[in-house]
Formats: sequence, C-alpha cells, structure tokens
Amino acid sequence: MAMVSMRQLLDEAAKGGYGVGAFNVNNMEQIQAIMEAATETQSPVIVQASRGARSYSQDRFLYHLMLAATEIYPDIPIALHQDHGNSPATCKSAIEMGFTSVMMDGSLMEDGKTPSSFEHNVKVTREVVEMAHARGVTVEGEIGCLGGIEDGHGAGGDGLEHLTDPEQAVEFVKQTGVDALAIAIGTSHGAYKFSSKPTGETLKMERLLEIHRRLPNVHLVMHGSSSVPQDLQDVINHYGGKLKPTWGVPVEEIQLGIKNGVRKINVDTDNRLAMTGAIRKVLVEKPEEFDLRAYMKPAREAMKKVVALRMQQFGQAGHAKDYKPIPLSEIAAMYKKEAVTA
Ligand code: 13P
Repeated sequence: MAMVSMRQLLDEAAKGGYGVGAFNVNNMEQIQAIMEAATETQSPVIVQASRGARSYSQDRFLYHLMLAATEIYPDIPIALHQDHGNSPATCKSAIEMGFTSVMMDGSLMEDGKTPSSFEHNVKVTREVVEMAHARGVTVEGEIGCLGGIEDGHGAGGDGLEHLTDPEQAVEFVKQTGVDALAIAIGTSHGAYKFSSKPTGETLKMERLLEIHRRLPNVHLVMHGSSSVPQDLQDVINHYGGKLKPTWGVPVEEIQLGIKNGVRKINVDTDNRLAMTGAIRKVLVEKPEEFDLRAYMKPAREAMKKVVALRMQQFGQAGHAKDYKPIPLSEIAAMYKKEAVTA
C-alpha cells in the first residue's frame, strides 16, 4: 500500500472515535518495531521524523526505509509525518521527499526555541497549508507552546507558560485551514514532565474540552504524551542508568482526550526508554557481547511491546482494514473544491 494522507487517517479515526499514536523514528529498528506492532494489532499508523531525526539518519535513508515498510506491510495504512517543522522550507523539503503530512510549528520562531507572535504563526502556517494542500499533503499546526525540548526544538519549561487560548485556537484554524491542531495543555517533551503523578487539573484537561467544544470538527493533537512508565524506568536504573524520579502523562488522561477530539497522540520518550533499557540489560548481563544484533533485537522487541500496547489503549487496533487509501492527487482535488466553496 502506498503511504496515505494523514488527514484521511485522522478523518477515519474521528468517524471511529479512536486516537492514532504518532511514533517518532530515527532508524530501521524503530520503523520495524512500529510496523510489527501495527501488524500484530492491525492498526493504521503515523510514523514521524523530527528535524533531528532527518539529519541523524540522512533523511533519504529514512524515507527509503519507509518505502520498504509499505512494500513489506501492504495491508497497513501508513502516514509519514514531519514532526515540528520549524519553517516553510523544512516542510517543503519533506513534501518534496514524499512525506504525506507535515507539522508547521509556527508557535516558535525558526530557531525552534523562541515563542512567536500569533501573526507570525498564522503567516508561516498559511503558507505551508497552501503549498501542502496543493499536493494532497496534510498540515498540522500548533497554537500555544509545549514545554520541554526535543532534538533541540522546544520552548523549554514545564509547559504551563504558554497554554493554548481557546479563542485564539478558533481564530488560528479559521485563518490557516490546518487539518490538525496541536494544543498546549501542560505537557512537555522528554522524560521529565512531572515530579508527581499528574491529575486532570495539572494537565489542564478542562482547556482541552473547551477547545473541542469550540472546534468540534478539528483533529486535536496531544504532543509530549509519553506515559514514562515506572517499569521502563526501573529497567534502566537497575542496569546502571541514572534516571531521576519522574512521571509522564497517564493513559487515562489521553483516553479522556480521545473522547474529546484528540486524534493524534505523539509518543517518542517511552520508546526511547524501552530500547535503552533492553540494550543496557544485554550489555550488563553479557559484558562479553559485541554483536550489535544481540542488543538491537531485544531493543526492537521492547519498543514493539510498548507501541502495541499504546495502539490498543488509543483504540486504533483493529482498524487497519476499515478503508481504502485515497490517492494524494484526489485529496488535493478535495482541498481545491473546499477552497472554492469556502
Ligand atoms: P514525548 O517526549 O512525551 O514522547 O513526546 C514526543 C512528542 O511530542 C514528539 O513531537
């Protein structure tokens, strides 16, 4: 199956009332882990690459691994998404390479750190929407800023400084025409999100519900949604790691989000933790080992387990064969028609 439009994948998720995990990748083993989990659970998937991942992997390598995934797993709908594009140029290069979806994160300036103005955000996002939709490619925008830093990108802090203003969110969607909207409700990238188990209050779930009430037809995106499970932390620390005590986003809060318009859930850290723990275990238990397959295989298996569990928890499991992919050229025609009738 060819790669599919993320918009189609999210429209279907909205119809079915479920969420779709968007898992970050840097290398072959992570892509294989996601595809194996998707096959086992029969899930449609979103695979995403940050700018850091594109540079680490020399993105053409990553892109061709994704093409291999479409050949090896023809029954699984896959959207390939640029995570946190920092400029229209970054999004353009992803589109030209064949990504079926891009995030223009205009909530920050091009340096990926400095919070921007509403006007800047609208301007760059609108530019990307025009460029992407002409090719049937999906666009995710962001209003409000997440906390934390990922691959050098992020506003830092605990995610509470720049929460999404619901009224601005409505205006932003109206002025840009984005397909999906990332909102800031107190989550942040990375392992160190909370110093105790967060409640719905810590996470500002009320704000999410308010945004959904005002924008019932927009696909909402939750970034920074790793749950940072204690058992994965324990494996790392047991085998010589030094993670400080930390809490992530409880799966129940994500599920509440899914009942209220969240369709895309970004997860990276949990998979990093799973793979690192598995690698540490082999290297500590078998210090004589030097065949990288001896630790990459259990690492891949550990990530697959986490991803398969999230696929069940987000509700995408069992939905891989619900629909036929619409070619991007038809999606582009659909956007054109929408623009004419708007
Ligand atoms: P985590 O660090 O919580 O996995 O978030 C990843 C993310 O939001 C990628 O954009």
